[in-house]
Amino acid sequence: MPKLGFVGLGTMGGQMVNRLLAKGHSVTGYNRTRSKAEWLVAKGMMWADSPRAVAASSDSHSQWSPTPRPSMPSPKVPMGCWPDWAPARFSST
Ligand SMILES: NC(=O)c1ccc[n+]([C@@H]2O[C@H](COP(=O)([O-])OP(=O)(O)OC[C@H]3O[C@@H](n4cnc5c(N)ncnc54)[C@H](OP(=O)(O)O)[C@@H]3O)[C@@H](O)[C@H]2O)c1
Repeated sequence: MPKLGFVGLGTMGGQMVNRLLAKGHSVTGYNRTRSKAEWLVAKGMMWADSPRAVAASSDSHSQWSPTPRPSMPSPKVPMGCWPDWAPARFSST
């Protein structure tokens, strides 16, 4: 079973992680505000201290944060406002 990673554990990301954990998946997650993710840690989600740490510990990772996408590359900010996010194998909204 692949190791999954999530960045952004708000309404969308949090509920998806909740459902994945309920189905027995291995999920590592990061949220800007850690306190908002504690309920998922209590359910078995592994916490990562940064988006990069999520990427390093997962086979596939998703980002769920408001648009404009804070970690997407842009001409002005090549790696966005999350400069340690590894831009590999991710989906984003
Ligand atoms: N909710 C829906 O029904 C729905 C449906 C379809 C698509 N979407 C899309 O899914 C995305 C997320 O929606 P949501 O409803 O999950 O939003 P949300 O509940 O407001 O969660 C937003 C998430 O993004 C993080 N975030 C916001 N600004 C940030 C910043 N500047 N730097 C780092 N992290 C930041 C928040 O972290 P904190 O906890 O630290 O604030 C939180 O984890 C949006 O693009 C939305 O359009 C949502």
